[in-house]
Amino acid sequence: MQMRHSDVIVIGSGMAGMVAALSLAPLRVSLLTKTDDLPGGSSNWAQGGIAAAIDPADDPVEHAADTVAAGAGLTDPEMATLLTDEGARRLTRWINRGLPFDRNEDGRLCLGREAAHGAARVLHAGGDATGRTLMADLSARVRAAGHVTVETSAFAWDLVTGRQGVVGVLAHHAADGWVFHRAGAVLLACGGVGQLYRHTTNPVEATGDGIALAARAGADLADLEFVQFHPTALAGTRTGQVPLLTEALRGAGAHLLDEHGGRFMQKAHPLAELAPRDVVAKAIGGRIAGGLPVYLDLRALWADDGAARFPTVAGICAAAKLDPARLPIPVAPAAHYHMGGVVTDADGRTSIPGLYAAGEVACTGVHGANRLASNSLLEALVFAERAADAILASAPARPGPVALPLLPATLTPMPQAAAVAMQAADIMAESVGLLRDGIGLSCAIAELEALDAGLDREAAGDDHAAIRLSGELRNRLLTSALIAQAALARQESRGAHQRSDWPDARAEWRHRQRVTLTGPAPRIRVAPPRSPLPVM
Ligand code: SIN
Repeated sequence: MQMRHSDVIVIGSGMAGMVAALSLAPLRVSLLTKTDDLPGGSSNWAQGGIAAAIDPADDPVEHAADTVAAGAGLTDPEMATLLTDEGARRLTRWINRGLPFDRNEDGRLCLGREAAHGAARVLHAGGDATGRTLMADLSARVRAAGHVTVETSAFAWDLVTGRQGVVGVLAHHAADGWVFHRAGAVLLACGGVGQLYRHTTNPVEATGDGIALAARAGADLADLEFVQFHPTALAGTRTGQVPLLTEALRGAGAHLLDEHGGRFMQKAHPLAELAPRDVVAKAIGGRIAGGLPVYLDLRALWADDGAARFPTVAGICAAAKLDPARLPIPVAPAAHYHMGGVVTDADGRTSIPGLYAAGEVACTGVHGANRLASNSLLEALVFAERAADAILASAPARPGPVALPLLPATLTPMPQAAAVAMQAADIMAESVGLLRDGIGLSCAIAELEALDAGLDREAAGDDHAAIRLSGELRNRLLTSALIAQAALARQESRGAHQRSDWPDARAEWRHRQRVTLTGPAPRIRVAPPRSPLPVM
């Protein structure tokens, strides 16, 4: 096994990982990504943009209020204020550094409106290719940064901890085999959990790795039961990553239609198609569960130059041989974003000394039970920079001697790993999805345990694909079980967590739920909150 030293290890190459790596200069950073190239993760697929109150007519206080309202009683208002206040300033700094956002003919930034925002405050880049445009720019900056060593095709198998906290990461590299990366600080920026579900807007790499790494190391986790489903993915037979039809379409006037061609969202919420995401997803998901199709009507928008304004959506429809100018497009909800994750303070610190987290894998408390549209890229940017500032201030020391980490002796055979991943995704979609109940959740937990117990083992070789697949399955099963157990424990409906057996929000559950893994198996201890949320 090779040993490599750096000051900081960043795991993940989405928005949070890239911004953190760039902000950590002059410290020596190793950026590990399991993808073959930069960028990785869901940021690259973001169509809708990045929300910030940068218009002089807007106010970060209003943006914070919208964030808190969407969070269904669980958003930490101090974190929301930090996000929106610092977000506007930090994003302006990136704009001044040349991050390429769309502008009007007169040079002013274009600001779009999205669901549950009280003002037009969403910046886009390349129309609806925001993630791709921004991540290409950030990838070039990271590649050019002398202080960052980019390690691609590097799968983080486990965090390594010592008495003083985290001391490094055991990773398997396609090119170099097992490597023990040592550093005084590790930042988790490895994204979300979408691929734990049958249908998701997230790319293949979103397998819940960060939560599993942190859980096995004993870090506090929170809000795991809150998985956001995007209301409008393209409906069809495909599983895994499905194309997203951005919420900005509804912000620009697209309507949802029922099987008779009538609008139904006006009856469900005063904001109709622009209601909070959980409300829209629930309304669509309920119809689809009852066997009724739902459509997104883009005809008026397409008559008004929509294809040019939404080139990514136009490409998706063309690939699916659908013509939005002629017919409404079939849509269905898909797993999109995880509000829960590794508990951090405002500076990205987790409960383990030296371990930081930022972006979707982190749980800052800013999203509560339901994230406001286009707040995720902003959160990634703000809290990655804050974590980098905290790491710089802590001047991470080279860790003292520790025992070499043990390598896995056995792996799950590849064909079985792929099949079990699909079975687990079906269980999550059936019983831990948009609408849950206690019996279904209990069954899901038992079924996930049975899948884990039934895995065959074969002697571990040095094949990178086999190690990554087996490692991802290990992470998927653990993270799925943690989400299901947290969902079973929360006996109420709130935001993205909807239970048919507990259909209302309950005052006694108006707190965040902490979870720590107490042993190697996914048995969890649901810890009470450290402090109740202030009443707004
Ligand atoms: C979208 O474009 O609808 C997704 C934006 C988001 O999830 O914030």
